[in-house]
Order: sequence, then C-alpha cells, then structure tokens
Amino acid sequence: MEKYILSLDQGTTSSRAILFTKKGEIAHTAQKEFTQHFPKPGWVEHNANEIWGSVLSVIASALSESGVKPEQIEGIGITNQRETTVVWDKETGIPVYNAIVWQSRQTAEICEELKAKGLNDTFRDKTGLLIDAYFSGTKVKWILDNVDGAREKAEEGKLLFGTIDSWLIWKLSGGKAHVTDYSNASRTLMYNIYDLKWDQELLDILRVPASMLPVVRPSSEVYGTTVPYHFFGKEIPIAGAAGDQQAALFGQACYEEGMAKNTYGTGCFMLMNTGEKAVKSENGLLTTLAWGIDGKVTYALEGSIFVAGSAIQWLRDGLRLIKSAGDTEGYAEKVASTDGVYVVPAFVGLGTPYWDSDVRGAVFGITRGTSKEHFVRATLESLAYQTKDVLTAMEADSGISLKTLRVDGGAVKNNFLMQFQSDMLSVPVERPEINETTALGAAYLAGLAVGFWSNREEIATQWKKEKEFEPAMEVARKEELYSGWKKAVNATMAFK
Ligand code: G3P
Repeated sequence: MEKYILSLDQGTTSSRAILFTKKGEIAHTAQKEFTQHFPKPGWVEHNANEIWGSVLSVIASALSESGVKPEQIEGIGITNQRETTVVWDKETGIPVYNAIVWQSRQTAEICEELKAKGLNDTFRDKTGLLIDAYFSGTKVKWILDNVDGAREKAEEGKLLFGTIDSWLIWKLSGGKAHVTDYSNASRTLMYNIYDLKWDQELLDILRVPASMLPVVRPSSEVYGTTVPYHFFGKEIPIAGAAGDQQAALFGQACYEEGMAKNTYGTGCFMLMNTGEKAVKSENGLLTTLAWGIDGKVTYALEGSIFVAGSAIQWLRDGLRLIKSAGDTEGYAEKVASTDGVYVVPAFVGLGTPYWDSDVRGAVFGITRGTSKEHFVRATLESLAYQTKDVLTAMEADSGISLKTLRVDGGAVKNNFLMQFQSDMLSVPVERPEINETTALGAAYLAGLAVGFWSNREEIATQWKKEKEFEPAMEVARKEELYSGWKKAVNATMAFK
C-alpha cells in the first residue's frame, strides 16, 4: 500500500490539501476558496471557522477523489498564510473576533503610536521586524482593546492566540496542542529571534498576556495527532509546520547559505537563507527565522511585497479586464511595451523597502492610446519591478550577489512575467518542475519528522528545474524602464 504525506496549505484566498508521494510528486490536490471580508477600506478579515471548515472539506475531497485511505497517510504538514491572527476561547474553541489578515491595515494607528514612542529599535533589535500593521502583535492588541470583555478574559487565562498554523493544529488535535513553529513565531512582533523566547518586554508594551501564547516548537516535529472524529477515525501525526514563505524556501531546497527563492502568491516574498547568522538589514528587509530542525535554527532575510497575484485578481474581479489570470500572458505579449504606463499596486500600502502603510495604488502615463493590453502588461511588470526593489536591498544587506533565483507560486506559469523578471534582475530565473513548493516544503518538514524521508540531502535530489529564463534585455533599456518605475513609486508615495 503506497504511503503519502498530506500537506495542508492554508493560504490567503484558498485552502488546499495536497497528497505527496515519496518521490516528492503530487498525487492529488483539492482546493477551496473562502470569503474575504473587507469591513472598512484597508481592512481585511477572515472567518477562522470558515477557514477550519474549508480545511476539513479539502482533506475530505483529497481523500475521496484520490481513493487514498486515511491509514495511508504517514504524517500531516501544515503551512499557512503568516501573521494572520486568531484569538479564541480556550473552553469553547470559538474565536472572539474574525481572523485579522496579514494584509489588514486596521492597526496602523497603533503602530504610529508605538513608533512615536521611539520603540522601533526595541522591536527591531529583538524580533528582526519593524513596527508595521503587517505583523501579529498589534493585531492581538487590537482585538483585546476592541472586543467587549476580551481583555478581561485574556487576563484570566481564558483566551488563546495563534497564527493560522496554531489554530489548525489546535483544532486538528481536538484542543490538545497549542503550539506554533519558529518560522511563524518570528512573524508575531512578540518573539525574540535571538533568544528564541517570547519577549516579556514586548508583551508588556503590547499588553498581551503570556498565557495566550502557543508553545514554540521546531518546524519538523510531531506536535500531536489528529482526533479520530476529524480524521476518519484515525490518529495521524501532525508532524511539521512552517509559514508559507519559509516552507517554500524549504520546498525549493534552498538549504545552503545565500540561496534564495521568490514566491508569487497573493503577495510576493523573496527569502534568502542566511544560515546560522541573523543578518540585520539596513535596507528595509526583515530578519526572520526560516525553520528549526535537527536542534538548530536557520535564519533568512526577507523582502515582503504585499500585492502581487492579488493585482492580477483585481484585473479580473475589480476591473473585469480579463476572464482568468491565464489571459494576462497573451495580452501582455500583444504589445511591445506598456508605452510608458506604470501601475503601482499599493492597495494596502507598500512593504519592502518602502514600508508605508498610508500610501495607496496609482497608475501613471496613460494616454488616449492606452489599451487593455498596456494596462495588463503594466500590472504584470509591477510584480517584476517590486521584486527588483527587493533584490537590490537583499544584495546590499547580505553582500551576496545572487547567481540564480528560484521561483514558485501561481504567477510563475506566466512566461512573459518570468522573462521580464529575469531581464529586470539580470540573473537567470529557475522554475522548478513542482511549482507547489510551499505545500511540498511543509510535506518535507513533516516527512522528515516521521522518517518518510531520511534527510535533506535526499530531498535536495528531488528538486528539478523545469525551465530557466535567461536575461536578454539590453542594459540601457532595463535601466530606463526601472527608473520610470522608481519615479512612479516616488510620486505615489508623495500623494497621500
Ligand atoms: O506573510 C504573508 C504571506 O505568508 C502570505 O502568503 O501566499 O497568501 O501570498 P500568500
């Protein structure tokens, strides 16, 4: 009977369950979208119970559609949209408020107050992050400050906090395991990435009781087992967890210092493995924990772009310019250039390297001759320009010039975008055969914990390149286009 690892990839817009074979190949995928709530401009929330329901539903679909029996699953790996914050009642399991999504700006004011108190360095020196509404800490504070009775209950030890990995592990284990892994903890603004501890000084500043926090565990370890009533009568080991971007770095087999990947999902996140060194950034990057495994933690430098795939969704659902994301390649290639049009998709502010919560999106350079094709192309190009901004910061901080960039995520199917990306970065862009590297990374972490795979060397041999894009654009042209982008971003930031 063939055995599998089940990877649960709980992303910003959908939940997926993917069954992986021992060869690291996909046996089956099930996916379900869930509701996005936008209660006010710039706010983004999810219903944590709907997320949980969507996860149960994709597990059921993956098993029933593939015919794989629960007993064929050796272990479960979890990967998740990071930073998104759930606070729930320990007794009833009911969330006290919607999950506040990583993209949500509703705590921007709290962040401004913390910055005005001169606390940026305090947070940065301990967490590797900067004060921004992106991270979980101010979201927990917001819930405790704004939900009736929440602070009292939290202080009485009756509420729990978790990022989505924690929430799912707690639910799957029937409330037995309240844990998170190093990579997810490192995104909360409350975890000291040097001492590897929740930081009491930061908790006091944010007024978050320590009793709410999950236990921080390695990314590859059995945290508990599924309760039989959620898992077809079986107790399956929940054996690994990592935030989706760190999981993708693991799934891309970037195990050596200096190796980097870029994932084009809802947002776009470039991570570089910096090994046992936590590199401090001077250029707006984040220092973060990549994973903890075999008794050691690995650090990474990260550039975070908030809007990437969601700009393509906006073309489809907001502007209704395209029917499906796949149409963008054809439209972009119908024109030789954007004719000077730039789209700056700062829908929820800008992340690396600008870190501006208040800025909103803008379009520049339109004329009477601007067509849908130009508009679509300019939107795609914005993903590549933002990535170029990040790579420039990364090379400056790490002192390493990248030799190749491994890419993954939905948008990498777009050959136009990948070629333009390689042109902009002037490095080869490598697309792997298995594009689901986030889910694969979580599967690997779980599989290593239960002996499904023996070590990282074995896993690294499974990574195969499907296609490489070589830089082909003339340097002068590249510079001209990129300087137009810089002008557009600066003008966007000036308009507030
Ligand atoms: O930090 C947010 C990130 O984890 C979200 O990833 O794939 O939903 O864009 P994604």
